[in-house]
Amino acid sequence: MEQYYWDGKIDYLSNTRGLYYNDDYIEFLVRTVWKIERPVRIIDFGCGYGFLGLKLLPFLPQGSTYTGIDAGVQLIERARKVYKDLPYEAEFIAADIWDANIERKYDMAVCHAFLLHISDPIEMLKKMLNCVTDRGKIACFEPHWISAMANQHLHEIRQSQIIQLGLLQKLFEDDALRTGKDGNIGMKLPIYLTKLGVKNVECRVSDKVNFLNPYSKTNLFESLREDGVGAHPGEREPFIRNLVDRGVSEEEARQQYENELLFSITFDNDSWFTCASNMKITFGTVMRG
Ligand SMILES: C[S@@+](CC[C@H](N)C(=O)[O-])C[C@H]1O[C@@H](n2cnc3c(N)ncnc32)[C@H](O)[C@@H]1O
Repeated sequence: MEQYYWDGKIDYLSNTRGLYYNDDYIEFLVRTVWKIERPVRIIDFGCGYGFLGLKLLPFLPQGSTYTGIDAGVQLIERARKVYKDLPYEAEFIAADIWDANIERKYDMAVCHAFLLHISDPIEMLKKMLNCVTDRGKIACFEPHWISAMANQHLHEIRQSQIIQLGLLQKLFEDDALRTGKDGNIGMKLPIYLTKLGVKNVECRVSDKVNFLNPYSKTNLFESLREDGVGAHPGEREPFIRNLVDRGVSEEEARQQYENELLFSITFDNDSWFTCASNMKITFGTVMRG
């Protein structure tokens, strides 16, 4: 049987999550912005190996519980292993969320890098809202790809030589229209949630700026590469065909190939490079009745 796509991405997930947030920022969100002072029951939609729980739980009041649900059976196995010896009350459910009957008993529904992979995100948001009790919260940590692309700087290379924002903007928009899956969903969630009746909706931006330099003694370069930064575009003709099939002109596709090739050749462990993922964190309160 073919492996479920995300089960094959466990290494990718664990090697790239460190690019997004500083822990003090998460602490700030939990304690200062959300003001969570009493234990909460949290459910994480599309939890993967439980990344978001690992970030939030250290700052949540003792007695809080974390439930992760994901379609990846191997991801859920990994999550159980990761949490086994941790001092948190956590449970994991392997299920396709579309088929799952989730009880309305949670104080907070959260998700991280999940809605962008869903072809009907509004229906999924309804499912998230449905499992939250009166005056509970929803918080979605989702990307806005085009701002993430704008926030990449490789020293001594003009950004337009390696990243064509105009073309990417069109590509992301067209892909979203064609598939329903939207890598720019982060900036739309304040609107979606408010239209779904969520109150007091606010949106924040992730804080972390990654700084790679020849003196870095970390695995930042490997994480960035794993995240696709400066990735080799592969063989020329299939790359171009793929872009043309997605609505880009042949000339633009050829130029994009050259840009990505230059990026991949120029970007290495000794590069001076800065980037910010620009994740958008949208949250609000569910009021019933
Ligand atoms: C990019 S991963 C993010 C995982 C995790 N939230 C993180 O940030 O590390 C997207 C996750 O959504 C899950 N997912 C997508 N559609 C799903 C569905 N219909 N039911 C359950 N999980 C789903 C995938 O299995 C995958 O683990």
